[in-house]
Amino acid sequence: MKEFNLSEKSKNYYEENDIYEIFSIAEDKPNKIYECLLSNIKNRIVLDLGCGTGKFMQKFYMETVKYYGLDLSKEQLKIAKQKVNNENVQFICCSAENIPLPDNSVDVIISTWVLGTILEIDKRNKVFNEMKRVLKKDGSIYLVENDIGGEFEEIRNRYPNIKKTKDYNDWIENKGFICYKKIETYFEFKDKEEAKNVFTNIWGEEIGNKVKSQIIRHNVVVYKY
Ligand SMILES: C[S@@+](CC[C@H](N)C(=O)[O-])C[C@H]1O[C@@H](n2cnc3c(N)ncnc32)[C@H](O)[C@@H]1O
Repeated sequence: MKEFNLSEKSKNYYEENDIYEIFSIAEDKPNKIYECLLSNIKNRIVLDLGCGTGKFMQKFYMETVKYYGLDLSKEQLKIAKQKVNNENVQFICCSAENIPLPDNSVDVIISTWVLGTILEIDKRNKVFNEMKRVLKKDGSIYLVENDIGGEFEEIRNRYPNIKKTKDYNDWIENKGFICYKKIETYFEFKDKEEAKNVFTNIWGEEIGNKVKSQIIRHNVVVYKY
């Protein structure tokens, strides 16, 4: 059976990333995540780990000293490159298990919905160790993740059975991250059909059929290390 989801090898980061791009543009329509992170990246050397199609890069790079956009998928980076072309920005196509940057070289790492896509725990641990290696001693990591509850979790069958989200968020907290901010935001698609089509393409028909509106409420948690 075809597996539908947004885990590491999802078709939506490769041959069908046009769908991911629509999803990404709809996500956090009111820009609350951008507002939450902006002051923390200003005038810093930033690594956007798993930058995808450049949703945050596009808004942040001009505020930073240097912006590294790293992603495993060259197809995702291709879309990001169409949005950003600046000498301050360096694209890196590789797995975050081996980040080609020196020790203690980055002030801030932002990573939005990435570590949870890495389902193998050993691999995820390796990525976290690499993040700590490249981070300056007084640097910070911000992870943007799904919080327990809310419409987005309900639609994807992660609420009321909260186990998957809770296990992952517990993994983050056990690594020493603290909850920096909880944000109530929403996806806004062009219309209900677009929302339904995107959810069906990514998660399959059963989940797509649960989409009732072009707006989908989304509870987000920002973790800091
Ligand atoms: C859910 S998307 C998030 C993309 C982007 N951060 C955003 O907010 O739109 C997850 C991204 O992580 C990337 N990714 C998954 N595993 C990775 C790995 N091991 N190393 C680097 N990037 C990875 C995927 O290619 C994908 O672009």
